[in-house]
Amino acid sequence: MILLCGLPGAGKSTLARRLAAEIPAVRLCPDEWLAHLGVDLHDAQARELLERQLWRHAQDLLRLGQTVILEYGFWSRAEREEMWLGARALGAAVELRYLSVPLEELHRRLQSRNAAGDWGTAPITRDMLDHWATLFEPPTPEELARYDT
Ligand SMILES: Nc1ncnc2c1ncn2[C@@H]1O[C@H](COP(=O)(O)OP(=O)(O)O)[C@@H](O)[C@H]1O
Ligand SMILES: [Mg+2]
Repeated sequence: MILLCGLPGAGKSTLARRLAAEIPAVRLCPDEWLAHLGVDLHDAQARELLERQLWRHAQDLLRLGQTVILEYGFWSRAEREEMWLGARALGAAVELRYLSVPLEELHRRLQSRNAAGDWGTAPITRDMLDHWATLFEPPTPEELARYDT
């Protein structure tokens, strides 16, 4: 299982698409599922329910020996820990890929993504990004070292 960790604009979906083809692996991207379901990407309750359901689905796939890429962003260490424990209990190796990108660069990327209005993305303002950056708990080197490579 591969966990993609990083703020919006960090390049999670871009990397996930490449890895999914290369490995090959199943990508589970909440933003795209919400868009397919016709749900507002900023609906936090729907996202929470969907992420819980996709996590159950991910565990089914892991049991079948598939490689799964989770594009949740994983802002909190507790959330990463939960996935790590769950996957390890199934005997799966777990990679944590942290996409660390300076805030200014995130803002530039999001401006261009917002302007393009790509399907499966929601417009993200500078204020939202700045606020979310204060909530984000970057993985420490010690945390990263616990994961498989
Ligand atoms: N390594 C990169 N360097 C420059 N731009 C990138 C890179 N990865 C992604 N992008 C661009 O940045 C924007 C955000 O990428 P995306 O993969 O949608 O991020 P996320 O899924 O983490 O929100 C997209 O427009 C994408 O084309
Ligand atoms: Mg994405």
